[in-house]
Amino acid sequence: MSAAPAFVVKGGRLVDATGVRSGDVVVGDDGSIVAVGPDLSAPETLDAAGCVVSPGFVDIHSHLREPGKEEAETVETGARGAAVGGYTCILAMPNTTPAIDSASVVREVLDLGRSAPCDVRTSGAITVGRAGSQLAPMAELAGLGVTLFTDDGAGVQDNLLMRRAMEYAAGLGVTLAQHCEDDALCGGGHMHEGEWSSRLGIAGQPAEAEELMVMRDIALARLTGAKLHFQHMSTAGSLAMIAGAKAAGLDITCESTTHHFTLTHANCATYDPVFKVNPPLRTDEDVAAVKAGIGNGTVDCIATDHAPHTPDDKIQPFDEAPPGMLGLETALALALTELDLEIEQIVGLLSWKPAAIIGADDRHGRPIAEGNPANLCVFDPDEEWTIDGAAMQSKSRNTPYAGRRVRGRVRHTILEGEAVVRNGEPTR
Ligand code: DOR
Repeated sequence: MSAAPAFVVKGGRLVDATGVRSGDVVVGDDGSIVAVGPDLSAPETLDAAGCVVSPGFVDIHSHLREPGKEEAETVETGARGAAVGGYTCILAMPNTTPAIDSASVVREVLDLGRSAPCDVRTSGAITVGRAGSQLAPMAELAGLGVTLFTDDGAGVQDNLLMRRAMEYAAGLGVTLAQHCEDDALCGGGHMHEGEWSSRLGIAGQPAEAEELMVMRDIALARLTGAKLHFQHMSTAGSLAMIAGAKAAGLDITCESTTHHFTLTHANCATYDPVFKVNPPLRTDEDVAAVKAGIGNGTVDCIATDHAPHTPDDKIQPFDEAPPGMLGLETALALALTELDLEIEQIVGLLSWKPAAIIGADDRHGRPIAEGNPANLCVFDPDEEWTIDGAAMQSKSRNTPYAGRRVRGRVRHTILEGEAVVRNGEPTR
């Protein structure tokens, strides 16, 4: 039996991987798109006048803190913030307590996600406890649907172990993702090593701490043939190496975060730990390189590295506070405000490109066409607003953008045919 029309998304500009056009989108009661075209009607209307209608966004780098740190975020609150940010799918990072390194924790996170207003998928840890000494049961986790493995929050330091992980991943057909930081060279630094760390008297970590691991992992990808994804790339040198590796035909992708193209190490001048993050905020030249990489395709997608921390944790002195900042509710606006790109490029960087990296393109990032799942974002690209941490869905408040004027706001998010955000407000 075919689906009955439930509502129509009316009057928007449709932007997907096939291009840009105007049209209405009828969503059926089975959660799929049942018609696309001019002048369509349905029992209910969602207004999209002046808006872009796009496939929902996909964040492949979200810290959801559950299990273990539910006072900072839960799967439910993280997913709700994601929905308000236009995301229909997010990938949980494994640095929870316990780490997502076993079948039982994978199942727990996926179970928690089932009632959430966003499709919650999870990464798996590369090593047991993310401790960097013994491989996690990757085949078992892959059997539960895990497509991307990372020890995020830390990089795998041991060269031989990383080689073995890549060999194993290549056999399983999964992607290894690396948080690139050479611990020894970081030397316990709390921000980027440079003019600002000297001025502020805060121990720094050099750009080379990231770049050495990028260099090593490119070499190991060449050796093993593994599919490799570089997380939160932040330096000009890293991006130059990745561009070279891609040109040489290696199966490599990378992401940059919104904060690495909007903030610099100069933001740490107030000693406010809200600007403390790993990898650290870098120089103007690095920000320019990240923006250029996003524009020329070296950077495959934008990720948030959404990293909630409670006020009690974040209020500590700079060198004691945990690194990380919120991202899910501000990524679209920051991209639209700060990147000089066509709208379809920005939507691609937030939607179908990250979806492909984690294999979520079975349901997300798909063209707005009859028969596809209704996972959609409707946003006004011109609406100006002021970022306010207190108004966020996240349980935490550590946004570095409080008070910043931005352009572009999500109006509705549709998950499997249900409007989980209407007029900017979550419906559940
Ligand atoms: O700043 C960061 N915070 N970088 C990471 O890689 C981990 C994250 C966290 O979990 O808080």
